[in-house]
Amino acid sequence: MCGIVAAVTQRNIINFLLENIKRLEYRGYDSSGLAIINKNNNFSRVRCVGKVNELIEKTKKKKLFGTIGLAHTRWATHGKVSEKNTHPHISSHIAIVHNGIIENSFQLRSLLTKQGYIFYSETDTEVIVHLLHWEQKKTGKSLLEVMRNSLMKLQGNYSMVVMDSHNPSKLIAVCSGCPLIIGLGTKENFIASDQIALLNITKRFIYLKEGDIAIVKRENIKIFNKDNSIIKRKIIKSDVKYESVKKGKYKHYMEKEIYEQPKSIRNTLKNRLKNNTSIYFPELGLKEINIFLHLEHIQIVACGTSYHAAMVSKHWFESIANIPCDVEVASEFSSRKLAVRKKSFFITLSQSGETADTLRALRISKKLGYLGNLTICNMKGSSLVQESDNYLLTKAGVEIGVASTKSFTTQLTVLLMLVAKIVSIKKKENDIEKKIVKILTILPYRIEEILKKNKEIQNIAKKLYNKKNILFLGRGDQYPIAMEGALKLKEISYIHAEAYPSGELKHGPLALIDKNMPIIITAPKNSLLEKTKKNIQEICTRGGLIYIFSDEEINLEKNITLLKVPYVEEIIAPIFYIVPLQLLAYYIALSKGTNIDQPRNLAKSVTVE
Ligand code: G6P
Repeated sequence: MCGIVAAVTQRNIINFLLENIKRLEYRGYDSSGLAIINKNNNFSRVRCVGKVNELIEKTKKKKLFGTIGLAHTRWATHGKVSEKNTHPHISSHIAIVHNGIIENSFQLRSLLTKQGYIFYSETDTEVIVHLLHWEQKKTGKSLLEVMRNSLMKLQGNYSMVVMDSHNPSKLIAVCSGCPLIIGLGTKENFIASDQIALLNITKRFIYLKEGDIAIVKRENIKIFNKDNSIIKRKIIKSDVKYESVKKGKYKHYMEKEIYEQPKSIRNTLKNRLKNNTSIYFPELGLKEINIFLHLEHIQIVACGTSYHAAMVSKHWFESIANIPCDVEVASEFSSRKLAVRKKSFFITLSQSGETADTLRALRISKKLGYLGNLTICNMKGSSLVQESDNYLLTKAGVEIGVASTKSFTTQLTVLLMLVAKIVSIKKKENDIEKKIVKILTILPYRIEEILKKNKEIQNIAKKLYNKKNILFLGRGDQYPIAMEGALKLKEISYIHAEAYPSGELKHGPLALIDKNMPIIITAPKNSLLEKTKKNIQEICTRGGLIYIFSDEEINLEKNITLLKVPYVEEIIAPIFYIVPLQLLAYYIALSKGTNIDQPRNLAKSVTVE
């Protein structure tokens, strides 16, 4: 939700701001803007509605020069999509970019209006910048002290960067509930919402922690923690490759990320399979092993695609490990009074590690008496990783497409490894672990096989792209796959898609079936297939248009299309069957001509509740 970049350097930073804010466009793309302090110690600001490319065009015409500045790409929350609501916002000599939400902005706005401040935007951000200006005018104190006092008046989650044209040598960065990192250069320093923005410039990062305020100058950085003490934060050397952030030969990031899945899964498995017989998580120590031995219940909380991965794992935890497992979307988990199960262990799943609802759920869980917690996450320095007792990285690599793909399959890979590990610890024998290790080793090859079906899937997409509604059905561990398939489709093609457990068909959705309603079914050959076949029959009788993905020959009636997929082992079937659904969504969206990597109204990292 909203991307921030800022820098204080010795060279003209216009190109840096434009190039690097573009890399954060996945965080929001309603509008974008930048401000620098010019040679006359005034602000030059450019803002526009639409994609960052518009900002690039508009800025280039202005031939600006400045060595300190900030930029922002917006996902609108307070105030509609308009130029006047676009960041940076300015109050006299102070300029700000901000990510997050100020919950008490209405009260502060009326207070500041009474003090004579005129608001040019509908945003909560303009409230902060006027508040800073007012505090400084009243007290005459430094911007740092003014910031501290003002923060006490703000409620909500936010990160922000502020600059002062009266003091053009420093930026002030604040991190409270939304991520912010500092990139270290030589006689220049940078700030961004995500390291992806800075990988072309530096590999050395400091992840600001909750409550940190940093003064960032060319020569040095000073960080104060929430108790106002100067603190040294660890410098993390990133191993993410800048090249991995490029599209390469692919048309879209999503396409690249779908095809990257065999490689991402191999990376996820790398150094974690010992002698091809056991699973080794170097991140987990004796304490965690002891918890696994004693746990009697698992609670998983996540959002979006990560929630669907959690739902698949519920089947594994219960059927393979015999451990009761509950899964809940994070916003619901944190909105109700909870009864915690006996000896329960808490797991969060997240690609970004910054999803506000998931973070809040983790914070709530810490007060509820769980045995411990663990996050399965793709981003090493993220807030979830920092705030969790333990973490397991998915190692999917950087994912840019807003619709998650490789994150999902690598999350499932880690979850299956975790299930196997817990079974071995509890049962004190590793037969199941051995079997799962063997199957996981085959998994990347299986995914390579299903990716070869792309042409056939593209042909199905051509028949479906002009449909208004599509139904997805699945049974058992294929139901979450149906949900994920439907989510992919609606996210990027804007076609209304709904998922149902196949068995629920006759309790309502059957009423929707007619010759115009396509129904997508994933039906692997397993003990549930006979029941699914009966559902297929029920739809056939009512004339629905059926598309089946299966490794079994299914009797074809006139309105059934079967896409025969290669054989896959039953345990990993959910990881395998999502791939054709990802491709189907991709090719449908391609035929429709939608903005696949940046679907309307969405953002990759949702840092507001
Ligand atoms: C957003 C993204 C989804 C993602 C969800 C959860 O809605 O658009 O692709 O699945 O957030 O994100 P997380 O980073 O927590 O997995």
